[in-house]
Amino acid sequence: MAFPSGFLDELRSRVSLAEVVGRRVNLQKRGREYMGLCPFHKEKTPSFHVVEDKGFYHCFGCGAHGDVIGFAMQTQNLGFREAVEELARAAGLDVPRDTPQERERDQRRATLYGALAAAAAQFEANLAGPKGSAARAYLEGRGLDGETMRRFRLGYALDARDGLKRALAKDFPEPLLIEAGLVRKAEDRPEAYDYFRDRIIFPISDRRGQIIAFGGRLIEPALAAAPPTPLARAGLEGGSPRENRHRPKYLNSPETPVFQKGRVLYGWPAARAAAAREPSAIVTEGYMDVIALQRAGFGTAVAPLGTALTEHQLEEVWKLAPEPILCFDGDAAGQRAAGRALDRALPLLKAGRSLRFAIMPDGDDPDTLIARLGAAAMRDVLEQARPLVESLWTSETARPFDTPERRAALEARLETRVRQIADRAVQDHYRRFFKERLFQALSGQRTDKRRQKRAFDVRRPLSVVHPPEPPPRDPALLQRRNAEIRLALVLNHPFILSEYIEEVSAYRFADRELDRLLREILRIHALTPDLDAASLKFHLSQHGFDSVVSRLLSPQVLTHAAFARPEAEPDAAREGWLELANQIAELGKSEDKAVAERDLAADMSLETWERTQPLLERKGVD
Ligand code: UTP
Ligand code: MN
Repeated sequence: MAFPSGFLDELRSRVSLAEVVGRRVNLQKRGREYMGLCPFHKEKTPSFHVVEDKGFYHCFGCGAHGDVIGFAMQTQNLGFREAVEELARAAGLDVPRDTPQERERDQRRATLYGALAAAAAQFEANLAGPKGSAARAYLEGRGLDGETMRRFRLGYALDARDGLKRALAKDFPEPLLIEAGLVRKAEDRPEAYDYFRDRIIFPISDRRGQIIAFGGRLIEPALAAAPPTPLARAGLEGGSPRENRHRPKYLNSPETPVFQKGRVLYGWPAARAAAAREPSAIVTEGYMDVIALQRAGFGTAVAPLGTALTEHQLEEVWKLAPEPILCFDGDAAGQRAAGRALDRALPLLKAGRSLRFAIMPDGDDPDTLIARLGAAAMRDVLEQARPLVESLWTSETARPFDTPERRAALEARLETRVRQIADRAVQDHYRRFFKERLFQALSGQRTDKRRQKRAFDVRRPLSVVHPPEPPPRDPALLQRRNAEIRLALVLNHPFILSEYIEEVSAYRFADRELDRLLREILRIHALTPDLDAASLKFHLSQHGFDSVVSRLLSPQVLTHAAFARPEAEPDAAREGWLELANQIAELGKSEDKAVAERDLAADMSLETWERTQPLLERKGVD
């Protein structure tokens, strides 16, 4: 059958062609268009264009041309109707039905939406009317003006048994109001009564902006601990009568055919519109936080409805931005919620797709922070949000790992978490990241406390922890730096050992720590000549050289020698090595002298004297 007129247009306008194509083709943005390799013919240079505003794609290579429906049909091998249904489902649109039962169901849904919309209007009118004055005053006390109340369509449910029921009775039958979650029947009472009573109402919309449910808040200062009102005592509000001896601060609509809590985010339609202008996403905990954030200019704020983030909700926020920021309360409950979100997200991570975690000041939520310190403070908090991997590291390393057994346990825990990531590439990178981090942290534990603190202060990216220093001028310092770089180079490129082993074996360093490290490297090399960098570092860490190794591999040393960095090409490393050797030929004389003096002081044997004498007679560099 044909779809009703307008439906296909609506579908095309709601579905992003670039997004649908982007799931199969790696698209690059070029001005107003996207380009990529054509999925319909083999090619090496992109000739496949997607014109998002016009809603069509065109391949200059093979002439393939069509709209989003055509694309779904061709690439997924679907019929027209199937393609439309598939796209509509992904976009959250209801496909119009044609069997009598389906039509009836759609009609019923339509009337559910109708009842919910009528209820929202009624709640709004209540808030604006004389009986809404206390609720209005409360909201104004929290800094909301009339415009904001209208923008978020805030309302008020009267303090009456059946205010809403009576207001809607003439247009909607009672069973429908029950199905919509607006009124309910207690088992032991014949008459239905309003689900929300004496509460401020936050309408909740689906992705299309249709109201599907409500959240209701007590008017302060009545909190959960406050004495129950007569109505609540009679068990007449919300959920199950017995639960409501004490009224919860917030109450959400029950689940209905159009409302599944775990599939909805408060604030979604506005956030989606804002994300189209600038991709970003903030997930917070409460209704008031979303409102405060959106008002303060953070348009992409959304919140789940008092439950942990579900997979579905995560998928939704990833539609707004690749790395949404979770901005949960600074208290223990907020941290637990963040932890649960992290657990849920791990298996779903993909290349480029993750989460970040903002850390709120203790006792604040976004609403109170903005009220107290303004939008700039909020922006700071968001800017300092930490990548998921950092949060995971922090939570797994909360316990000490200062003994071999504890380290092994930590490694096992990290590996367990890494395995929860389904995407293999991301999994690999997590494994590598943790390996490096563990190595750094272990060396940090041994060296000075200050550095340890920095290594753990993960809010700061590692690359800026050690600002580069200018190269030293003093010959003694130069010499030392030269020695450090030589060792760093060997650590990152152990092949140098095999190529220059005689030269390296002859080295002596004035610095005892460096010298000990060199001896150990030579010892390991003698046992296992072809060790790669990772294994060499691992062996050294096993033998207690963590701190010196990590110092040598720090940006402070490597900033002076790109050729010694791990990513340098072997040729560059070799060239750098030779340059260092030239430099020490110049500088080495004084170093040799210092070593000779030290050796002689330690061992005044004839043999040592004979060996060191020529060096000691030589004049140092000037
Ligand atoms: P909070 O207790 O953090 O409240 O609940 P809040 O958002 O800061 O609210 P205000 O600022 O006091 O008005 C966070 C969210 O948890 C759900 C609601 O969705 C709320 O927005 N919640 C909270 C409930 O569902 N029931 C409750 O009793 C409390
Ligand atoms: Mn709050």
